[in-house]
Amino acid sequence: MNKRLDIEKIVSEMTLEEKIQFVVGVGMLNHKDNPKGKVYGAAGETMEIERLGIPRTSYADGPAGLRIHPDREGDSRKYHTTAFPVETMLASTWNRELLRKVGEAMGREVAEYGIDILLAPAVNIHRNPLCGRNFEYYSEDPLLSAEMAVAFVQGVQSQGVGACVKHFVANEQETNRMTIDTVVSERALREIYLRPFEIVIRKARPWTVMSSYNKLYGKYTSQSEWLLTKILREEWGFEGFVMTDWFAGDDAVKQIEAGNDLIMPGRSFQYFANRGSEVAEIRRAIEGGELSLDVLEERIKAILKVLIKTPAFNSYEYSNSPDLDAHACISYEAGCEGVVLLKNEKALPITAGTPFVVFGTGQLETIRGGTGSGETHPRYTISLLDGIIKRGLAADREVVEFYRKKIEELRGGDYRISYGQWNEEIRPKLPENLFERAELEELSERNEAALVVISRISGEGKDRRLEKGDYYLTDDELELITGVSQAFRKKGKKVVGILNVGSPIEVQSWIDLFDGILLLWQPGQEAGRILADVIGGHVNPSGKLPTTFPNHYADVPSRSFPGEPADNPSVVSYDEGIYVGYRYYETFRVEPAFEFGFGLSYTDFEYSDLKIERDGEELSVSFNVKNNGGAAGKEVSQLYVKAPKGKIDKPRIELRGFEKTELLQPGEEERLTVRLPVDEIASFDGYRWIIEQGDYEFLIGASSRDIRLTGRIGLRTAGGDL
Ligand code: BGC
Repeated sequence: MNKRLDIEKIVSEMTLEEKIQFVVGVGMLNHKDNPKGKVYGAAGETMEIERLGIPRTSYADGPAGLRIHPDREGDSRKYHTTAFPVETMLASTWNRELLRKVGEAMGREVAEYGIDILLAPAVNIHRNPLCGRNFEYYSEDPLLSAEMAVAFVQGVQSQGVGACVKHFVANEQETNRMTIDTVVSERALREIYLRPFEIVIRKARPWTVMSSYNKLYGKYTSQSEWLLTKILREEWGFEGFVMTDWFAGDDAVKQIEAGNDLIMPGRSFQYFANRGSEVAEIRRAIEGGELSLDVLEERIKAILKVLIKTPAFNSYEYSNSPDLDAHACISYEAGCEGVVLLKNEKALPITAGTPFVVFGTGQLETIRGGTGSGETHPRYTISLLDGIIKRGLAADREVVEFYRKKIEELRGGDYRISYGQWNEEIRPKLPENLFERAELEELSERNEAALVVISRISGEGKDRRLEKGDYYLTDDELELITGVSQAFRKKGKKVVGILNVGSPIEVQSWIDLFDGILLLWQPGQEAGRILADVIGGHVNPSGKLPTTFPNHYADVPSRSFPGEPADNPSVVSYDEGIYVGYRYYETFRVEPAFEFGFGLSYTDFEYSDLKIERDGEELSVSFNVKNNGGAAGKEVSQLYVKAPKGKIDKPRIELRGFEKTELLQPGEEERLTVRLPVDEIASFDGYRWIIEQGDYEFLIGASSRDIRLTGRIGLRTAGGDL
């Protein structure tokens, strides 16, 4: 079948009114006033034209799992999906294969629930730890973000459904997200913020891209021809279609002109009608001659070119029953590899049978992920405590019962294990300092170790707060930790902090109270199993930080966050330029609490025998990694490149590649090879990409600061230009 011809024919047979309506979605379908969607709880749909054989196509979030509503009116069955670890935790695995598997599983659920396009992954950058949606983004580094997204998109799309790479671009905060104007140098935009999109588009060919809410240089991204046509299509060769973020921008005609093909979710057909109708705006512009029919048809063709690949178009008979058990195993596996061991002074693992006690209400009110469109509705979430009990670990039963009763009492009977709605207004944080000193003394008599769970949640629409209870611990949490630490350590017993958080919190002021710290992130529905298997030593942590934990918030390079004026920001200036995350900390020698790429293991790895070879336009960097300790484990090895001094400033080091070993048994060795196309070493000098001439240092690190091997290679190209 010649699909191109078909599309031409379909478009030629559309009436003008159909053409105008087709580029606008048919409204939000999970709203009580409009429960007519094909899949209840999906975020949007496109228009059906039965006469021409065009079916409705459906779009649903998001990065941590397919978000549809589990309940449907008049239907007793449940439509649950799998809750995977949040994106930041997936990135902590540094494991492309695993990301592909997660993508495949999510893609299967998309297909089997009658959805056509998954509104994920999100590749915005961790510019500031307080961004409320950081959990939905991978990393502070564009390459790590891109590589994770490439594998994920390939996995999703291998299932015959589409991915949507979002939010394009420079959307790194929630405060005033629908109007904020981002000002950023073109160099930083190209090297940091556009870069993950560019790599994903070139390598994984996502079916769709979502433009963002914000403005860039005074213009809504969804209305920017420079972004959507010049960069995305002409420079990068993007062949799919662009949709707006939900209700983004202020001019539908400008969106269509700029190259934003589909306007979502579409106000015209629903309760938002009083806020203006895109269809009416487009109709007026076509009638008045301001918008050409050719442009409109070009947008329709871009959409149809993708839609003909969708399950809906191909009348796929979806089952409504994906293999949730198999996907639970993938979610578990991804979570296990994403746990980051931040500190371990002989505190972990806890050997079988050793009695220990778990403190903190988060052990029951476990946070599986954040809120908003990145939320999920799984069949269950295994709380940290249930995981520990199910795995038969020797947690103090009296304290277990105490927490169960106490939380039930404090929540007034409305106590649900793991919930997605936890914020000041709806579910205030529970008190944590629930034990008298004498009780702690007694508990430290009969237990050999203590775990303290610290949890945080954030979500769409709101940035995090630089306050106690969010970025900082509450007085209450500190009192609990101090009390536990004093009682247990006095007797030579270990205290371990479990961080159930979606983004960095302040750690520097209290870290010394702990012997071990395990960063569990927000690990999805299998939370408790993951924790239990890591603390019990069945799983050796191999996650590494995709984002820096600063020592002090004042060290964070993004000074303008969430923008100016402070009381109601309209502009955010990315004045730190390319110096985001470790690029800043390393170049300006600001010591972080935990650096980018950092993560401990229950074993030790030794690095040796570095070879750097050039083969045409590709560099091949290989080295050995040997497991020198007593436990089987995996190691993430990172390649950082230090460029010679040249025309433009460079960060001291930049991540240019990484590999993860297989599970290495004690004594086992693996040779890893990182392949690096020479042109990926380039920097943007304000106008074009250039490769500085000279000697480059290649650093192989177990983290950005723990460099194990160093080599050099001279790079000299004809003109230095690409
Ligand atoms: C979010 C997007 C999401 C969309 C649809 C918006 O509010 O920013 O990430 O895909 O809603 O739910």
